[in-house]
Amino acid sequence: MDNAAEQAQPRIAMSDAGKCYGALQVFRGINLEVGEREVVAIIGPSGCGKTTLLRCIDGLIPLSAGEVLIEGNRVAGPREGVAMVFQHFGLFPWKTMFQNVAYGLRLAGASHAQIAEKVPKFVELVGLSGFEHYYPYQISGGMQQRCGLARALSVEPRVLLMDEPFGAVDAQTREILQFELLRIWEMRPTTMVFVTHSIDEAVLMGDRVVVLKGRPAGVHEIVEVDLPRPRDRATLLQPRFAELREHVWGTLMADARQAEFEVKR
Ligand SMILES: Nc1ncnc2c1ncn2[C@@H]1O[C@H](COP(=O)(O)OP(=O)(O)OP(=O)(O)O)[C@@H](O)[C@H]1O
Ligand SMILES: [Mg+2]
Repeated sequence: MDNAAEQAQPRIAMSDAGKCYGALQVFRGINLEVGEREVVAIIGPSGCGKTTLLRCIDGLIPLSAGEVLIEGNRVAGPREGVAMVFQHFGLFPWKTMFQNVAYGLRLAGASHAQIAEKVPKFVELVGLSGFEHYYPYQISGGMQQRCGLARALSVEPRVLLMDEPFGAVDAQTREILQFELLRIWEMRPTTMVFVTHSIDEAVLMGDRVVVLKGRPAGVHEIVEVDLPRPRDRATLLQPRFAELREHVWGTLMADARQAEFEVKR
């Protein structure tokens, strides 16, 4: 990782962050800093609190303990410059692709003229040109996810929060979208927190991979991903990629084996 280390102020700083839903403590004691042009991938078992963590960074829900700072300011609600791509598309079914992308810009205070200029640009960037006037039910899951991506990118966020953005699309579409996202990120690198279930995706995307584990969850390990950028399909063939993937796999599977052992007892 050559980009985050020298940052004077991290773009995101979580300190001793904890979250409870009533009696359920989801995570606690999370300390994590993310640099200005850094991609942090978060991986962990289902239900460990990844979506909850992103929602806290986004300001959609409050932390129960600790704090999140974005550019040095404490997060107390949704803020300009922070965009999220949701686990299940998160599009408005009654809005067309164009209107869904425009929604983010409108919330950010863009004028009609800015919306008219920017929406086609970002629709094209994600490869959806020609489908602007389709409704979500008329297009595939992969296309819906591209639309969600265009909506998030169109506000040119300083922090991009991705909640398993490709988890609900087929394997081929997922690969295509991963490499497109890498290409888009290279054009305009920004702070990204990328939640995924896929070890390969975490290593491919991240400058670091944060492994969340335990109940309540905490940061179990942070793996530095020293693969050069730009990354592309050839990255998957590098021996170092295989080493890192095995390392993360080992960390996660140790957890799964422990859980299996506890069930058997
Ligand atoms: N609004 C809510 N109210 C109460 N409990 C919740 C709420 N949202 C999530 N939870 C609980 O918090 C825990 C973490 O949920 P979360 O959705 O953050 O997990 P996750 O790591 O994103 O899981 P997945 O990988 O399946 O998406 C779960 O036990 C879930 O049931
Ligand atoms: Mg989730």
